Amino acid sequence: MSQSLPSNKTIFSGIQPSGALHIGNYLGAIKQWIELQQDNNAYFCIVDQHAITVPYDPSTLPDRVLDVAATYIAAGVDIQKSVIFVQSHISAHTELAWLLSTIAPYGAMSRMTQFKSKSKTIDAKDSVSLALFSYPVLMTADILLYNTNIVPVGEDQKQHIELARDIAQRFNTTYGDVFTLPESYIPEQTARIMSLTDPKKKMSKSDAEKSYIALNDSPEIIRQKISSAVTDTEAIFSFKKSGPAVKNLLNIYKAFSKKEEQVIEQELAEKSYKEFKDSLAASIISGLHNFQQKFDEIRKDDVELRFTLGRGMHRAQGVANSTLHRVKEVMGLM
Ligand code: TYM
Repeated sequence: MSQSLPSNKTIFSGIQPSGALHIGNYLGAIKQWIELQQDNNAYFCIVDQHAITVPYDPSTLPDRVLDVAATYIAAGVDIQKSVIFVQSHISAHTELAWLLSTIAPYGAMSRMTQFKSKSKTIDAKDSVSLALFSYPVLMTADILLYNTNIVPVGEDQKQHIELARDIAQRFNTTYGDVFTLPESYIPEQTARIMSLTDPKKKMSKSDAEKSYIALNDSPEIIRQKISSAVTDTEAIFSFKKSGPAVKNLLNIYKAFSKKEEQVIEQELAEKSYKEFKDSLAASIISGLHNFQQKFDEIRKDDVELRFTLGRGMHRAQGVANSTLHRVKEVMGLM
């Protein structure tokens, strides 16, 4: 991540409405969005067409989309300034994805680690879809439609953004300079928040509930999950020397308590795991308190949320359609 905050750039990012959002999504992505939106032009998308690339329940999808919209706003996205919208409301996303798939390199696509890991989790009866394979091309279209400079995401999306940049470069070389080349913007310490039950795996909404803290977990549940989080054999509290499980908890503590590393190490020097976990749970609970109150408030009003998403669609559509128009023109489509 660059040292100083960028300004006067276009920012684009998105989250799938595919389950409870957790503190990994917040610390890895949304927290940076809030900082970046101030001096930049930002688009925050709810990528529902990515969520349907794996088996899902159509009856709950609309509610999940509204949950993500409410999460963005409750976490601090300023809807007067930034644009919040739903991917499937703008057909330019899928149309551009098809056009880009004509130059997307199959070899590089086959090396995408998210495709490899996600396809392993799908039951044979459901079979792996073509859409799961071409998922990164749709993501490329999302990013390139808005002339995006910066894509704030967690570490797991880095490979996809490198591919998007590569596809943009190939396109510009073949058809002329149409696309801005995007860069990822990844936080240093919270780029990869790990599972509470297995510090070798990233925290993920598709794993068991005990392994992640959902942004809407109650104080009681947060205390329970933190108290059962795995630790390392030696009780050392050091950002450099602790084992992977404790380092992960320390990073979460630092992000929520907003304390310096040295201050945390001194504070914890003589403490037990139990005492550390009590402080950690308390800092997460208080860090999520305002968010949870706002979320409940915003989520009560479906009509207002749908109105916000409609307005977002109108604001995003003009830019998206004009990029698509240029692409079709240079590609010789009449
Ligand atoms: P998704 O929905 O899986 O995750 C949303 C964001 O949360 C970050 N993240 C994490 N960060 C740190 N630690 C974790 N354990 C963790 N888990 C998730 C992700 O890196 C991401 O930033 N393909 C994307 C969605 C997408 C997108 C886009 C993103 C579609 N089009 C265009 C940016 C730009 C995804 O699956 O994110």
